Amino acid sequence: MTGAAVATALALAGCGSSGSSDAQLSVGASYMPQPVSADMAAGFLTITNKGGTKDELTSVTSDSAGEVTMHETDGGAMEEVNSFEVPAHGQLVFKSGGNHLMFENLKHRPEQGDTITLKLKFAKSGPLTIEMPVKSATYNPSTGH
Ligand code: CU
Repeated sequence: MTGAAVATALALAGCGSSGSSDAQLSVGASYMPQPVSADMAAGFLTITNKGGTKDELTSVTSDSAGEVTMHETDGGAMEEVNSFEVPAHGQLVFKSGGNHLMFENLKHRPEQGDTITLKLKFAKSGPLTIEMPVKSATYNPSTGH
């Protein structure tokens, strides 16, 4: 990717979805259930790839947490992974009981109504910055409560 394309991706990241045809990746449905302690929190989101080339989510960072790790759930056991594929014309879905982000060493306990800023880095596309809202501890995205 050229420097100009990276700059475009960065500029677009702040305004959420869509815009230029350069932006192949977009993030939606992000939320963090309010955690019970300040030690650890989970986060969920969906990354949509409009492009015809697969990409890879290679790292997630946040100013609110010392460390953000990526986990997949396999037969009930969770396992840390170093990257996740974002398929061409497809989605990478993080959801309760499946893939999830894990926030460790939180600076303070996130409360419902807060927003957590995340930076997502990809193997091919430029980085995306997103605002993840903190929802209630029992939030269910399919009902919105
Ligand atoms: Cu986990």
